[in-house]
Amino acid sequence: MPLEFAQRIRRIPSYPVAAGYELGDDVAMLASNESCFAPLPAVVEAARRVIDGSHRYPDPSYWRLRSALAERYGLPPERIALGNGSCDILLAAGEALLEPGAEVVYSWPAFSVYPHLAATSGARAIEVPLDAAERHDLDAMLSEVTVATRLVLICNPNNPTSTAVGLDEVERFLDQVAPNVCVILDEAYVEFSLLLGDPHASVELLRRYPNLVLLRTFSKVYGLAGLRVGYALCGSVDFRAAVDQVRQPFYLGIGAQAAALEALRHQDEVERRVERTLAHRLALEDGVRGLGLWVAESDANFIWVLLPEEADESDVVSGLAERRVLVRAGKALGREGAMRVTVGTDAENERFIAALAEILG
Ligand SMILES: Cc1ncc(COP(=O)(O)O)c(C=O)c1O
Repeated sequence: MPLEFAQRIRRIPSYPVAAGYELGDDVAMLASNESCFAPLPAVVEAARRVIDGSHRYPDPSYWRLRSALAERYGLPPERIALGNGSCDILLAAGEALLEPGAEVVYSWPAFSVYPHLAATSGARAIEVPLDAAERHDLDAMLSEVTVATRLVLICNPNNPTSTAVGLDEVERFLDQVAPNVCVILDEAYVEFSLLLGDPHASVELLRRYPNLVLLRTFSKVYGLAGLRVGYALCGSVDFRAAVDQVRQPFYLGIGAQAAALEALRHQDEVERRVERTLAHRLALEDGVRGLGLWVAESDANFIWVLLPEEADESDVVSGLAERRVLVRAGKALGREGAMRVTVGTDAENERFIAALAEILG
């Protein structure tokens, strides 16, 4: 007899994981919005140094990293949540806030993990279409907020479409949402955004909106995707306490903590990497537009490209893979006929443009 699983296992969608790892080296990895820069040597060294103490569990209060983030953003450490990647905090937020009868509102297409929150909890997902420029339509989202809404997710800049909405728009939205509704501003790519400016700017909103949570990560700008460290800057201690309550105590290994702590000490280099990424992105966008394709107004380290109507999306994506370039097909991300391309090194980007030009003829 087969195992009998919980009902919700049938509802939970499979996350569209990146494929192509079997292709080995010399592949342009443009499918997961990672940094094209390896971690700094000092960061790698910090992680190495603590491995000697691996016979001990990590400090379950994660005190050093939380204090460093608290100091950087001027918040009490009790309002900093940490996680095994920011996904961990996102899923914990779903578990802590949602249940059958509750609603979660988010735009679509947005980050592929959002549908999991409703599916695992039995809450109702309200997916609001993006506007014609592939941006969040905050007015439309607001009109979907009801007494049943427990959580609103705003992905800013949005994955997969790369677009951002200004903080003035976010603020207007927050002014109109009841204070008992949790609003998570998912800012995985905030450091790349020129529209949002300084990553400290949205932190100011936390002072006025205790229902707000800023979700951030070391996976993107800090180049630590493989170590899995995310964090949330919380408007209230309650959110942090609740997401800690629903998770195992040791979600962050000692190497990950040490690397993240060291990474925070190198902000000048982080900014230089942002500048280089944005310069690479401009060249990438020029190359794609030069092929006559529409590219969304990017404010992140990736671009969103609409394919010509006559092109078959899966043929394009598999044609790129045959040429050792991995990108993400729009269909897997909620919009067929598009693709999401991470900004790589100049060489990777050039390989992508040359391959795409060949495929589209
Ligand atoms: C918008 C957004 N939020 C959150 C995450 C999760 O990142 P991580 O779990 O690596 O911190 C990602 C990853 O791609 C993302 O694109």
